[in-house]
Amino acid sequence: MNAPPPPVEPTVERAPAWVRAIAPYVPGKPIEEVARELHLDPSNIVKLASNENPRGPSPKVVAAIAAAAADASRYPDGSAFALRVALSRALGVAPDRLVFGNGSNDILELVAQAFLKPGDEAVCSKHAFAVYPLATQARGATLVEAPARGYAHDLDAIRAAITPRTRVVFVANPNNPTGTWLPGTAVAAFVASVPRDVVVVLDEAYDEYLDPAERSRSLGWIDRHPNLVVSRTFSKAYGLAALRIGYGVMDPRLADLVNRVRQPFNVNALAQAAAIAALHDPDYVEESAMLNRAGLRQVEAGVARLGCETLPSKGNFVLVRVGDAARVYRALLEQGVIVRPVANYGLPEWLRVTIGLPEENDMFLSALAHALAPAR
Ligand SMILES: Cc1ncc(COP(=O)(O)O)c(C=O)c1O
Repeated sequence: MNAPPPPVEPTVERAPAWVRAIAPYVPGKPIEEVARELHLDPSNIVKLASNENPRGPSPKVVAAIAAAAADASRYPDGSAFALRVALSRALGVAPDRLVFGNGSNDILELVAQAFLKPGDEAVCSKHAFAVYPLATQARGATLVEAPARGYAHDLDAIRAAITPRTRVVFVANPNNPTGTWLPGTAVAAFVASVPRDVVVVLDEAYDEYLDPAERSRSLGWIDRHPNLVVSRTFSKAYGLAALRIGYGVMDPRLADLVNRVRQPFNVNALAQAAAIAALHDPDYVEESAMLNRAGLRQVEAGVARLGCETLPSKGNFVLVRVGDAARVYRALLEQGVIVRPVANYGLPEWLRVTIGLPEENDMFLSALAHALAPAR
């Protein structure tokens, strides 16, 4: 007989209904956890589940982190002055347009916190990044999902979903988990079409992976559109996911508002030092983007040979249609390959695979061949 469920703690019952209704974020499984659960040697496990940079951080960054560690007893610079100066030069934007976050995830949360309250709406596309609903629901606001076109964002449908209740619109370009991308001209026209009292968050976490000619010019639109927030991250092509650092670029009046809801020390000192060093090593980012493009081609070709469909991706990951994704996910895990199921994105037949080093991609492809074999 099953034990009766434990009683609901009264404090929990008193939490706002919208908080209790949040479906928790499910991260990619850590290597150590898979090793423990499946009795595998961690050194034989490959993690292609969290869109991380497979190269590890640049050696210059590692040295900067080691040097900064000596000051770990001090609080970080809450205004991130040195990083602000370095990034403002690198991007060609005024320092007061930058807000730093504990990952760009923090920027998404801070914008939601600054602009959303119960009764408000935020809009995003179907299959868009999972943090948009989380950040919206945590403020008691409602997320409105516009239909996708194929699997990509449909900017017309997103525009049509904006109502007088809408305060924030999230657009991921490229989007995770689909890898779909919209050209700058289309995004610029969309931003111009949004009412000026609605914040448009353009999430460009994967921008550095695009071909240089395709990279976003959105920072140049902020003067014309003071309701635009562009978010970017050091987690992906810069290889700093563990340190949690990202940033938003926006009109200084918006930055001032967002800074009011920011924790005073939300970005730690090691992350600030690492980001400065990373900005001084642009070759690392370009090499990472090149390695990723070659890896994408390798995975796409290998998956095609196995008879599976992929979605064209502009990120450091690709969606692969495997049919019974829960079964194939498990079969890959048992072979020491961690990928990401995406049923929670309305994509139950697909798995999201992060592009790894060439040998990691090969490991995935041979594990996938095995995983698919019994079903054929
Ligand atoms: C589209 C998108 N935006 C934002 C993030 C947040 O990344 P971070 O908080 O590490 O900057 C991610 C992470 O996977 C992402 O895929």
